Amino acid sequence: MWTNNTIEWIDIELTSFCNIKCPGCFRQIKKEKVSHVLDNESLSFSQLKKWISKKHFPNLKLLNFCGSIDEPSLHPEILEIVDYFSEHYNINISTNGSTKTKKFWSKLGSYGISVFFGVDGIDQKSLEKYRIGSNFNKVQSNWRAFIKSGGNATWQFIAFEHNEHLIDDAKKMATSEGFDNFRLIYSHRNDNKESKKIQRDEENKIVCKYGEQNRLFITHTGVMLPCCFLNSEYLQTHATNKAQTDFQHLYMNTGGVLTNSLKYSEPDEIMNGDLFNSIIKSWSSKPISRCWSTCKKAKQDVFLGEKLK
Ligand SMILES: C[S@@+](CC[C@H](N)C(=O)[O-])C[C@H]1O[C@@H](n2cnc3c(N)ncnc32)[C@H](O)[C@@H]1O
Ligand code: SF4
Ligand code: SF4
Repeated sequence: MWTNNTIEWIDIELTSFCNIKCPGCFRQIKKEKVSHVLDNESLSFSQLKKWISKKHFPNLKLLNFCGSIDEPSLHPEILEIVDYFSEHYNINISTNGSTKTKKFWSKLGSYGISVFFGVDGIDQKSLEKYRIGSNFNKVQSNWRAFIKSGGNATWQFIAFEHNEHLIDDAKKMATSEGFDNFRLIYSHRNDNKESKKIQRDEENKIVCKYGEQNRLFITHTGVMLPCCFLNSEYLQTHATNKAQTDFQHLYMNTGGVLTNSLKYSEPDEIMNGDLFNSIIKSWSSKPISRCWSTCKKAKQDVFLGEKLK
């Protein structure tokens, strides 16, 4: 399922830094246990050049800079990283947009890459209900600079009870501001007070979302995981050195960081290793609980995309 030749898409968590405090983010949900590992480590450009190459992933098409706890635009080498990898792959960055300067965003746009701006409101008051610490005017001038210089922009709007009446206004604003796409997320996270407007279909078996997409995930520590859904459990074990869940036990029992990090192992060694194989094997007998809750029961976020141009 996960092999050098099959991988087409890699999500990379570039850093553990972020500038704002969204209450539904794992940074906040898990903060008592993980705060000491936040805001202190990033993957370096030189590590990425070594790990991500045609030699390791001959069919790779997309690098998606979006992790579970990162604000990728804060990475100190982000422009060098984009400059280098956009020569070889499609690039997407997910951002809160409330960082750096218009000059930075204009430069980023000049690479013609895709950026998802997480804007869950239409003004300061509605935006900061979830994006606590974000500055609407700054986000707006940043997306304008990005779009003007040729970037492909998607307005990503997470629907909550507090903002779902603003969806149409946000869509109108996205169109008039020159965004290419509008993406609406109905999130499943428990503490989201999620909108009740979407019904989910029940699935009867595990359909591995990342496996189906030929996709995998790299954490900001260099650990390679099958998907982002396992990252919050990984992060907790990384922070506490303790295991509670079945996945956490498996991670530790299969050698932990020493066997599952790109700092110490080659990508194919990790993908062919005990952690990945045990997860796959679990699906036919007793699936890893996170696989069960994410990819068996109807728990996946619902994404409704719309082209604006
Ligand atoms: C942890 S963020 C990292 C990227 C960046 N900091 C951002 O917020 O876009 C990863 C993704 O999770 C999304 N996200 C944040 N809170 C969420 C929630 N409560 N439910 C679903 N997705 C959420 C973000 O919008 C982003 O697309
Ligand atoms: S901006 Fe992204 S990483 Fe930062 S707190 Fe919000 S969701 Fe988490
Ligand atoms: S939770 Fe399990 S089944 Fe779902 S994408 Fe991740 S590895 Fe695949």
